[in-house]
Amino acid sequence: MATSRGYLGRTHEDQQPLVQGEPSGPKIITSAIPGPKTKAGLERLDKLQDTRAAFIMTGSNDMSDGNQEPRRKGKECLSILVMYLDMFCQIASLPLGYNSKALIDAASSPEMIQMLVNRPALGIVPHGTWAKTLEHSLMRAAPKGLTQVFTAMCGTCSNETAYKAAFMYYQKQKRGGNEITSEDLSTCMRNEGPGSPDLAVMSFDGGFHGRLFGSLSTTYTKPLHKLDIPAFSNWVSSPFPALRYPLEKHQVENDKEEERCLAIAEEKMKNAKSPIVALIVEPIQSEGGDNHASPRFFQGLRDLTKKYGIIMIVDEVQTGVGPTGHFWAHEAWNLTSPPDIVTFSKKFQTAGWFHGPELRADAPYRNFNTWLGDPVRVLQAKTILEEIESKDLVKNAAETGAYLKKELHVIENTYPKVISAVRGLGTFLAFDLPNPQERDVFVARLRLAGVNTGGCGPKSIRFRPMLVFQKRHADILLDAVERVASQH
Ligand SMILES: Cc1ncc(COP(=O)(O)O)c(C=O)c1O
Repeated sequence: MATSRGYLGRTHEDQQPLVQGEPSGPKIITSAIPGPKTKAGLERLDKLQDTRAAFIMTGSNDMSDGNQEPRRKGKECLSILVMYLDMFCQIASLPLGYNSKALIDAASSPEMIQMLVNRPALGIVPHGTWAKTLEHSLMRAAPKGLTQVFTAMCGTCSNETAYKAAFMYYQKQKRGGNEITSEDLSTCMRNEGPGSPDLAVMSFDGGFHGRLFGSLSTTYTKPLHKLDIPAFSNWVSSPFPALRYPLEKHQVENDKEEERCLAIAEEKMKNAKSPIVALIVEPIQSEGGDNHASPRFFQGLRDLTKKYGIIMIVDEVQTGVGPTGHFWAHEAWNLTSPPDIVTFSKKFQTAGWFHGPELRADAPYRNFNTWLGDPVRVLQAKTILEEIESKDLVKNAAETGAYLKKELHVIENTYPKVISAVRGLGTFLAFDLPNPQERDVFVARLRLAGVNTGGCGPKSIRFRPMLVFQKRHADILLDAVERVASQH
């Protein structure tokens, strides 16, 4: 067994802590996870809801999972969720940590209370402050060239309403200014063409865009997500590049692989059974296994979407809002023209999509629902953005991620039979285990070593820390990874 390289001894004195008074490290006091109290809590809950995916409960016993003494009631607690160093953060969605003082202050503001108790149906009765709230929150973060925002409730709803916008845009162009016909109106009421047209969205093998009816037809991660659900059978998936890591060392073969994938995508665009109206792609395929592609590949997709008149949707639900070292991961591509739509959710705590004016529906109520998002969550997004800016958290993600990645490569080189393909941008990092079973064992052992994280793809482990994750937290993680690798 190798001896520890001593990550925990490192001080990083140059770094001001972004959070004061955190615990010095995780504390696991149970020999199995979930521990006995969590198990009892889950059993009670299971009488009402399916709990088979759950392994920890927060909130009961003052933020502990019930297996250790409650010790930090109400205290700001960013990367450490009392028991664990949390590297998964509510499925990549927690931006500032637990009990963020800034978010608690925002939650107590009169503005927030007003929106909490008088929830508006934003499409028909927006509050007088709504435009200002949007200007000071989401619009300040809008990707270059996109001047409008459609607000929504979740990542899936964002993608699905974005698809609708693309379809309506396409049909409007096709009509070329002519009136909608009575045949259009009558056939759509029978789910038939031409009113309900046969149009398609293209996505990628290994892509994940949600689990509802439209989004699921663009999701290709696991058969179990899709099984038994009717699908849009003419929608098309195309291969996503299977690159070798580290990218710098395999550039020639990776370039070839990307060219192969671009050629197939173009063939599919040309020969699709139903016209492909939109293409959706993640900057890093996340649920699918943290699969990367180069800026050149994404520029290639942009060129193809322009050539064939296809709306390009970049799904930044998981990559957006800072973790890759850019506010939006697609900023790193320097595209010659911006994507048509960028969808978001997770770390913004609110969801929706940015777009240009041409993608507004041509009549009210066509892309619509009761709430159209939630001003409470958008006010949270405003605070999140202010914290990101005042604490330079995107830069923090870039710098902490570079340190963590470098040290993960050291561990990879020490235990090459266990850990391989360390990869990622910013703190959006992952590595592979030899097979799915060993990955699952590694994740379970990391939990017992005090690190909560998740798997993705067939055999990868991913890290999705919050934006206030710093080098001292990285050391706790590195120490755990090294210990688990050495015993594997
Ligand atoms: C890239 C991507 N798109 C869409 C979604 C769906 O988002 P939600 O679960 O909020 O509906 C996810 C969720 O993990 C995601 O990672």
